[in-house]
Amino acid sequence: MQRIRVHDKTFVPFLTADQIKERVAEMAMQISHDYRDKKPLLLAVLNGSFMFAADLFRLLTIDAEISFIKIASYQGMRSSGKVVTAIGMEHDLNGRAVILVEDIVDTGKTLHHFIPTLQQQHPASIAVATFLHKPEATLYPLSLQYVGFQIPNRFVVGYGLDYDGLGRNYYQVYQLAPDSLNES
Ligand code: XMP
Ligand code: MG
Repeated sequence: MQRIRVHDKTFVPFLTADQIKERVAEMAMQISHDYRDKKPLLLAVLNGSFMFAADLFRLLTIDAEISFIKIASYQGMRSSGKVVTAIGMEHDLNGRAVILVEDIVDTGKTLHHFIPTLQQQHPASIAVATFLHKPEATLYPLSLQYVGFQIPNRFVVGYGLDYDGLGRNYYQVYQLAPDSLNES
């Protein structure tokens, strides 16, 4: 695997496609086991989670539904802090076993603010399945039931994750190169 350039930054290989496939398959197996007979509704948070959500969903071996929502605005390399209202919430969550599907939990702010609005609809349960988690960056209390990989607090792209719109279209995940911080 090679270094890649995205906009003005250099990224180095971090997770291989094989590592990702294997871990997503394990997560799907676990969720299929935990949610048998519960017909869960996966709510995939766009844009970043679309690739993870598709791979996870197609490996579920139980009845399950999926829907796509948009909740947060995020720009550049740091959380904007603005959490906007969910767009695309057309499902009745009452009594449903909801699984929020995220690309990455960073500070945790997005989900911390969003989960209470979901709870107002009285779902039977709410769980979180996130592809990546940066524990060192997480400032808001959250319980994450399914975590693909815990990663260091360093910016990543690939497998749906972007740097200002680019870099989503890799099966691998790349990490900001240590020597890339001062590039312009
Ligand atoms: P919070 O801080 O609310 O942020 O947990 C979650 C959202 O922030 C974005 N994010 C990233 N996007 N590489 C990215 O491409 C990263 O390293 C990164 N860290 C945070 C992402 O949109 C996530 O949903
Ligand atoms: Mg996101």
